[in-house]
Amino acid sequence: MEKMSIVLALLVSLGFFYQSNQVAAYNASGWTKGHATFYGGSDASGTMGGACGYGNLYSSGYGNRTTALSSALFNDGASCGQCFKIICDYKSDPEWCIKGKSVTVTATNYCPPNYDESSDNGGWCNPPLKHFDMAQVAWEKIGIYKGGIIPVIYQRVSCKKHGGVRFTINGKNYFELVLISNVGGSGAIKAASIKGSKTGWLSMSRNWGANWQSNSYLNGQTLSFKVTTDDGVTLLFTDIVSSNWEFGQTFSSKVQF
Ligand SMILES: *[C@@H]1O[C@H](CO)[C@@H](O)[C@H](O)[C@H]1NC(C)=O
Ligand SMILES: *[C@@H]1O[C@H](CO)[C@@H](O)[C@H](O)[C@H]1NC(C)=O
Repeated sequence: MEKMSIVLALLVSLGFFYQSNQVAAYNASGWTKGHATFYGGSDASGTMGGACGYGNLYSSGYGNRTTALSSALFNDGASCGQCFKIICDYKSDPEWCIKGKSVTVTATNYCPPNYDESSDNGGWCNPPLKHFDMAQVAWEKIGIYKGGIIPVIYQRVSCKKHGGVRFTINGKNYFELVLISNVGGSGAIKAASIKGSKTGWLSMSRNWGANWQSNSYLNGQTLSFKVTTDDGVTLLFTDIVSSNWEFGQTFSSKVQF
């Protein structure tokens, strides 16, 4: 008996040690209740160009596993890029739920409140409701089209992305507007800095969605980025942009969160 508990204690402490050395793991926090509807059409065309600024979701790598978030979840854009595993709450709605299925989506858009409608009849995205307005293709993995709205349980999960983090530099001289997309791990960015080959680190601010801005003159310089996701993990993207960069170009990293 005693030997057994010593072995157990050892295993537990080893497990703890192992866990505390993990990096970039987003800690899922359990299931929460919410609701989900769908938008954007059966070809997801209406989901493109959402409030996170990812543009064409097929070319930016998000595809049709995407969602718009209600105000309570969107957090003024701070939640852009977060990933959610969503299950239809079959016990609450056996008529319109598909049993035993889940779907994982990335937040790419905002579902604004509609105060003209009550929150149980059209105003699904009104505060404080936790609501997902999902791309139809994703929604139909867990719900039956005719149902329109379904009760769900959800939790944040780690984002798995193909390829590296992407930096798209828009703007003009003295105003770089950098879209940071295809972010793995926690998926959402808390802080970003930019560095030209002739400058030190300059902190950027969120302009809108996943667009971060800097007001420096960086033309003709090699650029580096430092990005921190909202779980506190920081990655350095050294000299990822070569000095002959132009506005409108996208640069991909080799490393990923
Ligand atoms: C949804 O995306 C998948 C790839 O992620 C693709 O195979 C499928 O055709 C897309 N569905 C629609 C309806 O566009
Ligand atoms: C996630 O869990 C690990 C191990 O328990 C801990 O070290 C880390 O601080 C946690 N991260 C967050 C964002 O809570």
